[in-house]
Amino acid sequence: MENNRSSWGSNLGFLLAAIGSAVGLGNIWGFPYKMGKCGGFVFLIVYLLLAIFVGMIIMVSELAVGRKTKLSPIDAYKEVSKKFSWIGWLATIAPFFIMSFYTVLGGYCLQYIALNMTKLSFGNEAVAMTGGEIFGAMLTTPLGCVVFTILFIVICMVIVQGGVSGGIEKFNKIGMPALFVMLLIIIVRSLTLPNAVEGLKFMFVPGYAVKAGFIEAQPSLVSVLGTAGGQMFFSLSLAMGAILTYGSYLSKEENLVRNSVIIVASDTLIALMAGIAVIPAAVANGIAQGTPVGQIKLGGPNLLFVTLQDVFTNMGALGPLFGVIFYVLVLIAAISSAISLMETIAAHWIDKDLAKGETDTRQRNVLIVSLLILIEAVVVAADGLGSNFSPASLLGISAPPVFLDCFLDFMDCWSEGIAMPLGAMLMALMIGWEQSPDLVLDEVAHGDPSEGFKSFYKICVKFVVPIVMAFVLAGQMIDFFGSNQAIWYVVAVVLLVVFWVIAAMGKKKEA
Ligand code: PHE
Repeated sequence: MENNRSSWGSNLGFLLAAIGSAVGLGNIWGFPYKMGKCGGFVFLIVYLLLAIFVGMIIMVSELAVGRKTKLSPIDAYKEVSKKFSWIGWLATIAPFFIMSFYTVLGGYCLQYIALNMTKLSFGNEAVAMTGGEIFGAMLTTPLGCVVFTILFIVICMVIVQGGVSGGIEKFNKIGMPALFVMLLIIIVRSLTLPNAVEGLKFMFVPGYAVKAGFIEAQPSLVSVLGTAGGQMFFSLSLAMGAILTYGSYLSKEENLVRNSVIIVASDTLIALMAGIAVIPAAVANGIAQGTPVGQIKLGGPNLLFVTLQDVFTNMGALGPLFGVIFYVLVLIAAISSAISLMETIAAHWIDKDLAKGETDTRQRNVLIVSLLILIEAVVVAADGLGSNFSPASLLGISAPPVFLDCFLDFMDCWSEGIAMPLGAMLMALMIGWEQSPDLVLDEVAHGDPSEGFKSFYKICVKFVVPIVMAFVLAGQMIDFFGSNQAIWYVVAVVLLVVFWVIAAMGKKKEA
């Protein structure tokens, strides 16, 4: 069976695909404004520490479990552990839920590319609306959103049907370098706008966001930890099966530790670059339009689809050109992430067929997965971020908690909010306590990790990751369900303790 399983053409191809999975809407959209909101440098330091002590550990672990088992998540976890085999289900359902809205956002990018191309061809006046009006009109036109969502799904489907090296690797080999160059162009344009430095201050000067009035008070360290942790996991594509699946196509010769360092470093670099591209432009434009600095909108969907569209419109004749470049860049980032999610889900059935001796079932399986994604995505596309209907309105709830605000938040809550931090916590407990860190270290050993790394890995996987993940889980639940913070901390700690005990009780006897 193994001989028929897909594999990467080269380690570089794998790296670009994994970086492609990591670099997505999370980097370009979430990172910049979360960084500003959480006090700039404080957030960056917390983020980097988390990336090193938690992100790196889960990255190496996922790659190792994937490569060791040469299976997609559901069967991989089944092979590794009896008690925790269901982590594989979390790691397959979560990507499925994420795809429900990721594809819709991809569809928005397509619409914004079309919009800026229209402006480029017929002049800015061709669409004489503000960013806010454009976004509002788009959200309240469900048919348009559904059509472009379908288009985005079809693009991803065709790439994934092309195969691991023939489709995914090929797309990323061209897409990732292109994205990097486009990002550099936008950075240069952004930083040469008058007052751009105010945006840099927002990102990098501790306390500036509070001083300038963007936020009322510096969030507590615990809340920074929760925000940075959630962001880091989503951004690195961790605990969603994607990295595990990509790792399962990797050859035994490759060094997993070095690869992990490269992926984590590149993803963080691109997130910072995206911040430097986006925030200064938004702030500079706001100041030019006479908006008081602290009132310029830097968060939420508005940043990407309202504020930045205004930036491009106000740049004059060449603005739409930068608009096209920017939204193509975001589109590439979205596609390269979405195809990793689609592959993760489809790989389960492709593997199943292979086990039965059926080869060449990729086309059919990817088609079925795409259709399933389409069904859920249509709902998210049609609700227009809650403009047309929402889970709360369907249930007749006024003043709903965040997770009922719109279907995007609803799906995000179960995937990014719960499955992801819980999955990571369980994975660490499974490796650190039920099994043994050697499960991963022996696999990594093909690249011969140093003694230093081994000790570092053991301490982190056994203690640091589970504890940090409990905090991240609590932070996410507070964000989505709100109200009483203490309750969610208690829930997270209880879950941590219960699973820790379960894992430790089932510990394999050391040979
Ligand atoms: N990492 C992607 C982003 O930053 C999202 C993603 C999450 C992709 C999980 C794959 C798996 O947008």
